[in-house]
Amino acid sequence: MIVLQELIKQFGPVRAVDGINLEIKEGEIFGFVGPDGAGKTTLIRMMTGILSPTAGNIFILSTPRLELIKGQMGYVPQRFSLYGDLTVMENIRIIGALYGSTGQQLETLATEILSFTNLLPFKDRLADNLSGGMKQKLALSAGLMHKPKVFFLDEPTTGVDPVSRREFWQMLYRLNKEGMTIVVSTPYMDEAELCHRIAFMHNGKIVSCGTPRELKANYPYHVLELSVHNRNIKQLIDLKSILDINAFGEKYHLIVEDCMTATEAIKEKLNKAAIGNYQLREIAPTLEDVFVLLAHEGV
Ligand SMILES: Nc1ncnc2c1ncn2[C@@H]1O[C@H](COP(=O)(O)OP(=O)(O)OP(=O)(O)O)[C@@H](O)[C@H]1O
Ligand SMILES: [Mg+2]
Repeated sequence: MIVLQELIKQFGPVRAVDGINLEIKEGEIFGFVGPDGAGKTTLIRMMTGILSPTAGNIFILSTPRLELIKGQMGYVPQRFSLYGDLTVMENIRIIGALYGSTGQQLETLATEILSFTNLLPFKDRLADNLSGGMKQKLALSAGLMHKPKVFFLDEPTTGVDPVSRREFWQMLYRLNKEGMTIVVSTPYMDEAELCHRIAFMHNGKIVSCGTPRELKANYPYHVLELSVHNRNIKQLIDLKSILDINAFGEKYHLIVEDCMTATEAIKEKLNKAAIGNYQLREIAPTLEDVFVLLAHEGV
């Protein structure tokens, strides 16, 4: 469906995308994750044909001539790009007309898509007056107006509340079930978990790629979860047997090589500090653990 070969994008001194090779299969939900500036947007914009690569090849639906298959690709950009001073319906009509729908056919399609994205009750509201989540649903609706085969979404749910995010992903799943290939970037690990495969990007490169299950299975360390009401845990259990400590709310993930040795050492430290009310147990690594490690390695 999508093949990227030795893909490079150079902006002056910045190499935003640095030699990417990747294959995305038909029917996949493929996710890109990675820190700010990793190159996700640049990569997605090249795949949609908006940006041309400095070097390398892109094949989508078997052709390198992306201009020929524009009608089969949909794109939701990272920043809202519709008309704020037009209503939901007016925005959708414009997009539909751009793709060649007219008259009754356009009305039927617009109604169908707005009802799919739950925006029909708001069709007469100005886009500027929509909530963040609704704006993203409008962007999604716009991207769907020409029934694309491949749908690119760049951080479509950033800043959107958890309920709307879930609803948004249910829509993506329904579209995928109907056969749409979906390529999405996200800063949220719970969303990364929903993708069939994910690629972790760093400095323009893919440093790890696989199913969420594979990425977690390849994690080279053990994770101990410590639940405790204490903010000084990092200083308190500064032990050699602990490679890293990451806070997740009231819980800490302690990254260790040897669970037994580390557990003993941690218990001793906590006892010495007279901290009795805690829970310490080994847990399976989460995607967040995987990505924290990849980002720290700074590969
Ligand atoms: N048009 C441009 N001109 C110059 N530099 C650019 C341009 N677009 C992106 N860059 C640079 O390329 C790098 C990758 O940016 P990109 O927007 O692709 O990252 P990203 O992974 O999408 O980040 P974010 O998570 O913040 O959206 C950054 O260093 C950015 O400053
Ligand atoms: Mg981006």
